[in-house]
Amino acid sequence: MERISESVVKKDHAPKVSGRSIYVADYPSEGVLCGKLLHAKVARAKVLRVEVPPLPEGYFYVDAKDVPGDNNVNIVLDDTPVFCRETVEYIGEPIAMLCGPDEKTVERLRDECKVVYEELEPVIDLSAATHAFFDYHFGHGDVDAAFAQADRIFEESFRTGYQEQAYLETQGMMAVPEADGRMFVHGSAQCAYYIHGAVARALGCGPGGVHILQDVTGGGFGGKEAFPSILGCQVAVAAHKCAQPVRCVFDRREDMEYTSKRHPSLCKYKVAVKDGKVTAMDIDVIFNAGAYSTLSAVVLQRGIIAAPGVYNVPNVRVHGCAMKTNTSPCGAYRGFGAPQTFFAVEMMMDHIARALGVDSLAFKQSHLVKQGDMTSTCGRYHFPVPLPAMIDEVDAVCDYRRKREEYAKPQTGRYRRGIGMSLYFHGAGFTGSGERDIIKAVAKLRKYADGTVEVLASNGEIGQGVRTTFPKIVAHELNLPLDKVYYNHPDTARVPDSGPTVASRSLMVVGELLRRAAIQLREKWVDGIEQEVEEHFREPDFLIPFYIDKFQGDAYPTYAWSVNAIEVEVDTYTGLSKVLGAYGSFDVGTPIDYNVVMGQMEGGFLQGIGYASIEKMDYDAKGRIRNNSFSDYLIPTTKDVPNLKCMLHVERYPDGPYGAKGAGELPLVGAPGAYVEAMEQALGGVALHHAPFTAEDTLAVLTKEAI
Ligand code: MOS
Repeated sequence: MERISESVVKKDHAPKVSGRSIYVADYPSEGVLCGKLLHAKVARAKVLRVEVPPLPEGYFYVDAKDVPGDNNVNIVLDDTPVFCRETVEYIGEPIAMLCGPDEKTVERLRDECKVVYEELEPVIDLSAATHAFFDYHFGHGDVDAAFAQADRIFEESFRTGYQEQAYLETQGMMAVPEADGRMFVHGSAQCAYYIHGAVARALGCGPGGVHILQDVTGGGFGGKEAFPSILGCQVAVAAHKCAQPVRCVFDRREDMEYTSKRHPSLCKYKVAVKDGKVTAMDIDVIFNAGAYSTLSAVVLQRGIIAAPGVYNVPNVRVHGCAMKTNTSPCGAYRGFGAPQTFFAVEMMMDHIARALGVDSLAFKQSHLVKQGDMTSTCGRYHFPVPLPAMIDEVDAVCDYRRKREEYAKPQTGRYRRGIGMSLYFHGAGFTGSGERDIIKAVAKLRKYADGTVEVLASNGEIGQGVRTTFPKIVAHELNLPLDKVYYNHPDTARVPDSGPTVASRSLMVVGELLRRAAIQLREKWVDGIEQEVEEHFREPDFLIPFYIDKFQGDAYPTYAWSVNAIEVEVDTYTGLSKVLGAYGSFDVGTPIDYNVVMGQMEGGFLQGIGYASIEKMDYDAKGRIRNNSFSDYLIPTTKDVPNLKCMLHVERYPDGPYGAKGAGELPLVGAPGAYVEAMEQALGGVALHHAPFTAEDTLAVLTKEAI
């Protein structure tokens, strides 16, 4: 192992495990008003009026009329209101915030508010949706000719459901008017500068009028990418009106029902096969975006770029759209659109192989992309594609090929087994030209007179380890002990904008800026004085520029790769299935800290297994989320951790620090394909088309078999 990969104790380990860390809910309540949102109770309606009960002294009602600037939250587009406009568009939409010193009183006043609606017909089901927020087409080759010449044509559709991030700490933000007139907003978040832009716009002040601090954050997984911008605007507007600090912390039920989740999807594949090879794919990807567009554009882009999978398909046509429904807006969740399409393409390839009577892994392998091949968007895979070696590594630890053959034979006992495998990538960093055109990351190092060095960047610690790995890179380059380099939670008043904490970009992109900054500082180092150095993002030279209007070019500079195998045993009496083993080989480049990376791989893989098997969330006919607690929405607990074996396969990326690539999202993406393939085998070779595949789904298959 390289020295940089050797594990250290995480810098935030002791305060977190000892309970000393201060989360937003932990700040003293004295002088701080409690804010509670009045949520819409119908999915679509005109709000005719709100009858507010008499407010005691010191209590406030805050709504859109109190927004001093723009009542639009700055996300990708600006359609999400701070507080609702004339209509509400989903159950839970914030109409107003009640604020006051006593929480119970605020709750009572909130519940006594009577909203008079004129109900409108909502669009609840994705199949009834007609308005596309985003609609993309791209492709290459001659798809129609390939279909005309095909030996066989396969058409299937695949569905995936919601997934709730279920971070330990619910959403929470606090706004504090400062003596100098600035508004200080802090809380649980991934992207301090996103909140900064949004709050400045809502308050109608310049960027100097606000500053944002990320507090210690109890998990994000994408769920705190955009949502804190909305809540941040709401508490800031409230604090502005009340002229006092206001804090709003969601309870679990609010968080599960009304905050962003993974987009449910419907993916339709039409595939041409000639002489045993896939010659064309015509793919239609439909995401349920919910009521506002939030991050759906970029989630959809990542999803459709991955839609042909890791396969070399000469003719490709992809259409993707994100549809409006009157349900909670969906957003970022680890994987960002790719888990949906990788599930679909992996199942599709498996089903085609079986229809052709060939081994599914061999079929997939005969189509794998390799270095130098064209990507789905006419970019290039510039670096080695290590999938063949990774397949062998996984096969070696779980005896995949033998088991796959054995479990394909007829099984008759109570317990039946299956094993499945998925092959996939995760594009490292922002999709398309985002880093170059939008983010333009800047990172700094400040050396103090005593020789300590502070990292100045805006990427938040959300459990992924940047408070440790950033200093590790800098200490390594400066040859300093790790305790001489530190990275505080970012406050936009004192750190440059190194971009958001998303897209598996922090370590790869910002870590590399810090490595270069450290080299600069090393060369300029003078003992006993304060010094500062700065680095700006530069796009790597080899990149084929991406243009979103044509949907062409390198969507990512490089890719993290993975192979997952999952082995299941189904109890045919109860429908319950047990994961006997989950095996993954992951190539995220050089690990900057072995334990940190393994923690990401194991946690992400388990999250993916939950997504594939038990995490089911749905709404009723009125558009209300039905699974709004941890007794209705099941996620894997420590007791559900299977025999989990994660391995690292290292392909160094020359433009990442010491060869590191994006790691955070990769491990979640492949589980649904591997799990559902395994379930197909255990259930006697049926073809399955959706995830999660739950015990109820298993029983439905078994009952049909029994009839
Ligand atoms: Mo992430 S899912 O790019 O916040």
